[in-house]
Amino acid sequence: MSGTPGRNVSLRLHVNGRVREVEAPPDAPLLAVLRNDLGLNGPKYGCGLGECGACTVLVDGVAARSCVIPAGGVEGREITTLEGLGSLEAPHPVQQAFIDAQAAQCGYCLNGMILATVALLARHPRPTDAQARDALSHNLCRCGTHVEILRAVQRAAELAASGIRGGAG
Ligand code: FES
Ligand code: FES
Repeated sequence: MSGTPGRNVSLRLHVNGRVREVEAPPDAPLLAVLRNDLGLNGPKYGCGLGECGACTVLVDGVAARSCVIPAGGVEGREITTLEGLGSLEAPHPVQQAFIDAQAAQCGYCLNGMILATVALLARHPRPTDAQARDALSHNLCRCGTHVEILRAVQRAAELAASGIRGGAG
């Protein structure tokens, strides 16, 4: 990738298992490219400052804040958005766990909570409550569903350990 910051260049991004080519400034926030160019609305715009976690994606399996990552900086890295986890018919175990635990009110924070949980379980398949609190401590929920969200993390660990996926089937 080359080009002058602020001018459109051709970017090749690996998103949810596919190579996607977009024309965008290399310094454009990854969040903007995902939402505006690729139509992936799982990641949300919250603060735009890297502080709330609403825009979380996985970059090579690690939770990252897409509002402060330049799109040109993640060419060749594997980016996973909420859309890459599962579907309504076949939710990912972490998505199913959040449903089971009724861990949502407005739902705006859930993208970040779910992806941070996926990254946590990759590191700690059976996390303690302290590890879960630590992993999610910088993801903000303005609705105050933290108790249910922590319950969802433990439920997700159970589902993942037993190989259960949700949905019809
Ligand atoms: S929108 Fe990215 S951290 Fe808040
Ligand atoms: S459920 Fe509303 S911000 Fe978390």
